[in-house]
Amino acid sequence: MLVSAKEMLEKAKAGKYAVGQFNINNLEWTKAVLLTAQENNSPVILGVSEGAGKYMCGYTTVTNMVKAMISELNITVPVSLHLDHGSYEGAKKAIAAGFSSVMFDGSHYGIEENIEKTKEIIALAFSQGISVEAEVGAIGGEEDGVIGGGEVADPDECKMIADLGVTMLAAGIGNIHGKYPSNWKGLNFDVLAKIQELTGVKPLVLHGGTGIPADMIKKAISLGVSKINVNTECQLTFAAATRKYIEEGKDLEGKGFDPRKLLAPGFEAIKETVKEKMELFGSINKA
Ligand code: 13P
Repeated sequence: MLVSAKEMLEKAKAGKYAVGQFNINNLEWTKAVLLTAQENNSPVILGVSEGAGKYMCGYTTVTNMVKAMISELNITVPVSLHLDHGSYEGAKKAIAAGFSSVMFDGSHYGIEENIEKTKEIIALAFSQGISVEAEVGAIGGEEDGVIGGGEVADPDECKMIADLGVTMLAAGIGNIHGKYPSNWKGLNFDVLAKIQELTGVKPLVLHGGTGIPADMIKKAISLGVSKINVNTECQLTFAAATRKYIEEGKDLEGKGFDPRKLLAPGFEAIKETVKEKMELFGSINKA
């Protein structure tokens, strides 16, 4: 069964740990994340970008695949299926297709329009028990063709959006999707502390979890972050493991070209990365 992210994130916030959102791209990815969550007794959020949703033949396909996998693999830990950086139309489609959580990313609208559209998505989602993430201050870097400017959010705007009743709030604090440049200034903890002060118990979300050093992750969790998104790191470890398999010529040995064999090292690499992140985030044995 899929659950809203509300309860798992409120528990995480109270318990001072974070639940990982791991983005999925295909069946192997999904299976790797679900099995790792179950093996480590951790709650988990499966993130689906609009691009990944299209790649996987639409949100309904994704919902049905994930639900069937939860049942066939006997997954009993809480799993939330979450639209990542959803547009206004995309969020509505994901809700209709049975996602249990959506992000409406209105950060590129002016604050008034962001508020109006966030309100509408909240009303629609909450009527069906679906959690909603909103964003203030665009997250930097490029993700699935969406390029954000890397802003630092205005804490007062964060409070305005939090007060609409969103389940969790993503605020830009200098975080960037993908690899961080060598001259990156780090996370802005003063702004994070201010946002936490103004928004109280509201679970905060940190995007761009790939390149943030462990000490900064821990500090962010201590300042109220209870959901951390990871995408690029799983892609990098998947690609590296697949490349190694091919470079070693394993695809030419026996039945090494069988996709089930060819994708196996990448699958194991994702499992390892997800486990490392769950350890760092403190979500192990919190299901
Ligand atoms: P990374 O790709 O940097 O891990 O960020 C993922 C993310 O924030 C998804 O919304």
